[in-house]
Amino acid sequence: MQLPAPRGPLTERLFAELARPPHAFGPPPADPYGDRPSNQHGDRHGDPCFGEEDAQLALFVCYELHYQGFDGVDDRWEWNPSLLVLRERLETWFEGWLARRVPRPPAPPSREVPRALAALVAADDGPSLSAYLRSRADTAQFREFVVHRSIYQLKEADPHTWGIPRLLGRPKAALVEIQSDEYGGGRPERMHAELFRATMRGLGLDDSYGAYLGLVPGVTLAISNVMSLFGLHRRRRGALLGHLAAFEMTSSLPNRRYSQALGRLGGDAGARRYFDEHVQADAVHEQIAAHDMCGAFAAEHPGLTGDILYGAACALTLDRLFAEHLLGRWREGRTSLRETDAEVTVR
Ligand SMILES: [Fe+2]
Ligand SMILES: [Fe+2]
Repeated sequence: MQLPAPRGPLTERLFAELARPPHAFGPPPADPYGDRPSNQHGDRHGDPCFGEEDAQLALFVCYELHYQGFDGVDDRWEWNPSLLVLRERLETWFEGWLARRVPRPPAPPSREVPRALAALVAADDGPSLSAYLRSRADTAQFREFVVHRSIYQLKEADPHTWGIPRLLGRPKAALVEIQSDEYGGGRPERMHAELFRATMRGLGLDDSYGAYLGLVPGVTLAISNVMSLFGLHRRRRGALLGHLAAFEMTSSLPNRRYSQALGRLGGDAGARRYFDEHVQADAVHEQIAAHDMCGAFAAEHPGLTGDILYGAACALTLDRLFAEHLLGRWREGRTSLRETDAEVTVR
């Protein structure tokens, strides 16, 4: 994967450092924008310190060093102390970003966690992207949707896998059971990331890892960043499990609609297979995630039930922000991708 174009002073500086061999560099200034207009590099939405587009991309790139890395960026940057200082600043900003958007649900008693997760999911009243895609979206909009999703789906399941060594016993076995399905149960061609690549090829899109990183807005990056944040910090393991549970519990019905949408738009069985697979698989995964994984974890860690619910709430909120972004842009007749060269590259 190539480093994308910078989106502001943070990413300008970070990408310039990463292009060189690993070395020590100073932390970012408290306000890297100085008197530059904050919306020049993305709307701050009232967030102090960092512009949203710039900071989400910088954090995404810091995290990506733990996954596939970037062409021309030395692998030793992954554990470079200066890089980690910057990453911590960005994580502090991002945790504040989440705190301002995601109300913390009350902590239920341990035995109530599966039921509380179900109630949280049932109470979610965000706009339905899947309903719009099924009945109204044109092919260009469906392709945009797949481009956004490719940022996470081409590494599907990887962020939650960080949770495995942080667990013991029943919740660990449950997480491994889910992840084993996500990774194809030993058959690479059945890995969900591989099925998603087939969907991309069916739509004439570039299925190489990270090909569209430069085109997706901060809200799409935030969806990946929250998983990496929860996965890479042991203190957030409760939130990581709740996040995965919310993912699995909100997957089956939307995926049925995505498949129907693609069928309506002329997609063949190979392109639809990713979505069809999730209709069945996630109906099972949601039970494992809520009861065997989160329920068992809560019984062992009664002090972390609030974190489990918070992780789920973060997943639901980001999903809603994502749907609002896409539907809002499409309502205005605009692309939901960054309005750089999106029209040329994707449409
Ligand atoms: Fe999956
Ligand atoms: Fe799943």
